Amino acid sequence: MRAADIQSELTEILVTEEQIREKLQEIAARVAEDYAGKDLLLVGVLKGAVMVMADFSRYLPSSVPMDWMAVSSYGAGTKSSGVVQIRKDLDTDLHDKHVLIVEDIIDSGLTLSWLLENFESRGAASIEVFALLRKPEAAKVQVDCKYVGFDIPNEFVIGYGLDYAEKYRNLRDVAVLAPHVYS
Ligand code: PRP
Repeated sequence: MRAADIQSELTEILVTEEQIREKLQEIAARVAEDYAGKDLLLVGVLKGAVMVMADFSRYLPSSVPMDWMAVSSYGAGTKSSGVVQIRKDLDTDLHDKHVLIVEDIIDSGLTLSWLLENFESRGAASIEVFALLRKPEAAKVQVDCKYVGFDIPNEFVIGYGLDYAEKYRNLRDVAVLAPHVYS
């Protein structure tokens, strides 16, 4: 669905499907150049990164393996505790691999900062991050992110993989959810 289909549930469209497509092509070209001749592995973080991974990987000009990680944050009832539990681990041995973590969004940065530390202990040759969206105002920890699609304001955003109570992931655009939907 497009933002126009659920207009009354949104307050603003932040990034359109067309802008996402253009950005993914641009970043795919950079990644292809940066990793030429290297053993690249894409790692997606479920579930939000599914859309980015599907579209981004198909813009790459060569065959690239993908693996997936599912994590959940818990502790003190909020996801901002920074304590992360692995729900599904990688199937791949990271040893000597050049890993590019693919994320839909960096919010507080806590998930990625934990993942980076976890991956570093697995012997990868290099680890970099591609996040389609980043909320600079929400950062609790700084994450070194080599490829960023769009910096966005600290609003409740949904679409293109991002959900509210598992809804809206299949929205093609990224938009701000209207407060009446969740309050
Ligand atoms: C989202 C997103 C990132 C994380 C970012 O996942 O996909 O993994 O939150 O937040 P942070 O920077 O504050 O750690 P979420 O936990 O909502 O799970 P989901 O992808 O299954 O929706």
